[in-house]
Amino acid sequence: MKTVRYGIIGCGMMGQEHLRNIALLPQAEVVAIYEPDAGMRAQAQALVPGAVMVGSLAEVLAVEAVNCLLIASPNHLHLPQLEEIAAIRPLPVLCEKPLFTDPADAPRLAALRAAYPAPIWVAMEYRYMPPVAHLITQAGVATGGIKMLSIREHRFPFLEKVGDWNRFNRNSGGTLVEKCCHFFDLMRLVAGCNPVQIMASGGQAVNHLDEEYSGQRPDIWDHAYVIVDFENGMRAMLELCMFAEGARYQEEISAVGPKGKIECLVPGPGRFWPAHLGPAPVPQVIVSPRNPAGPMVLDVPVDPNLLAAGDHNGSTFYQHRGFADVVAHGVRPDVGLDDGWWAVAMGMAAQLSASTGRAIGAEELRAMTP
Ligand SMILES: NC(=O)c1ccc[n+]([C@@H]2O[C@H](COP(=O)([O-])OP(=O)(O)OC[C@H]3O[C@@H](n4cnc5c(N)ncnc54)[C@H](O)[C@@H]3O)[C@@H](O)[C@H]2O)c1
Repeated sequence: MKTVRYGIIGCGMMGQEHLRNIALLPQAEVVAIYEPDAGMRAQAQALVPGAVMVGSLAEVLAVEAVNCLLIASPNHLHLPQLEEIAAIRPLPVLCEKPLFTDPADAPRLAALRAAYPAPIWVAMEYRYMPPVAHLITQAGVATGGIKMLSIREHRFPFLEKVGDWNRFNRNSGGTLVEKCCHFFDLMRLVAGCNPVQIMASGGQAVNHLDEEYSGQRPDIWDHAYVIVDFENGMRAMLELCMFAEGARYQEEISAVGPKGKIECLVPGPGRFWPAHLGPAPVPQVIVSPRNPAGPMVLDVPVDPNLLAAGDHNGSTFYQHRGFADVVAHGVRPDVGLDDGWWAVAMGMAAQLSASTGRAIGAEELRAMTP
């Protein structure tokens, strides 16, 4: 029997990406899966024929061999499921982002943090994509200290999900929470400190306008600008556009400081790249010093086996490799509960700013964060 033995809670599109990546780790295996949708359950079983399929979260916890958990259910279920796990059998958990969806639930998170005796790792994947990881490690030297960080995501619209949960803010937490908590986590990681002010503008301009579910029109936003000021003076900006799937690169991240600029270009999922255009673009990192001036372009390819295992440039694999160390060797999670909480709170603050037309300052942020 392998040393890291997962129980999976929710196994749709992302859960199955996790299955494919866990299969690449020599010391890990999936032993039990709870997936309520028959179609998704069949797909999950086909990927891991040896796993036992069970009918509830409690039944996953009752499988003795399970020694860690992955939550990949819809966003609004993450917190109640963590609470249920805490009450029955609090194992180490890798919980998909976002950690929670309703600003009013912050006290429940605080209670969970105080009582949960095992590590909780929140899935924040962008930091593990090889070109982004390269930018993070080289940015200090290349910029001489980052003053400005810009993250532009131009991508495809939200995909269809089981039960269409992602069409409504009440389930997803809203686009700046659901999608963009990844980017807010990245900003905090790069800054090495917390934000003191958040301003945003965003809305629904193009996507899902003609869709209807039980008489209700989706209320999720498809574009936004967010500006974040950090404690150390770094300024960051997010530009999100979800009707730009024709673009060559999905994420364009740049950091600039007194010595120069470093940027990375990250393609979207290879399966969406038009086949007639040939191979999908290779990720790049570009370093552009001020003196001597002149950009240096470096290809940072992702291992093809990892690319084939998911839509996220290999990041799901690197995340599980780290989580396996948490379970097997007791090391601290890279992305703990507080980090997951901050990332969501920044998204909530951005949504509040865009909805009210005012900046969310340090005092208001303090009330929303760990
Ligand atoms: N880290 C990333 O980059 C990334 C990417 C995509 C999705 N996600 C996250 O992964 C999660 C799942 O998203 P998805 O894209 O796989 O959606 P999905 O709809 O494809 O899968 C969700 C699955 O959860 C199942 N489910 C419904 N109710 C459940 C319950 N009570 N308990 C357990 N499972 C239940 C559904 O049947 C479905 O199969 C979301 O939280 C999403 O935000 C993360």
